[in-house]
Amino acid sequence: MLKPVLAFSVFILSGLSLQQPAAAPAPLNVPATNPIKPNAEAIAKAKKVFGYDCALCHGEKGDGKGDVPMKVTLKDFTNAADLQSETDGDLFTIIKNGKGDMPPEGGRMKDEELWNLVSVVRSFSKK
Ligand code: HEC
Repeated sequence: MLKPVLAFSVFILSGLSLQQPAAAPAPLNVPATNPIKPNAEAIAKAKKVFGYDCALCHGEKGDGKGDVPMKVTLKDFTNAADLQSETDGDLFTIIKNGKGDMPPEGGRMKDEELWNLVSVVRSFSKK
């Protein structure tokens, strides 16, 4: 008697999970404000990483004019207004998980390194 009940609930459960939107990354518990105090050495390192990992799309200066043509117009990181609507946490999540044509950095970087990249992205608009 137990078996059909079990089978039925498995059926219900799998039906439920089918209705979940696919490919949504697990929600990260990301603070809105960058929790890492930037230090000169780490930022210099993150700038280098930006140069070889991000500049091809985002441009050496972060102005969105990299060498790789993109389907979408990239934001201009030198213009603070372009990133105004996004929290540090939003930027962190995009760098970590990727978005659209941007590949995720996720697994190969520590959170601290990702936060330092957020600082670098923000720094382009600080003169
Ligand atoms: C292959 C090209 C490519 C590379 C490499 C790349 N990005 Fe992006 N990035 C994009 C695209 C395209 C978007 C816009 C995504 C969208 O909104 O659809 C984006 C968005 C962003 C955003 C969010 C700003 C916004 O548009 O809202 C940040 C921050 C960012 N990238 C930082 C980085 C950093 C830091 C790196 C290097 C670790 C990097 N990106 C590497 C293509 C790239």
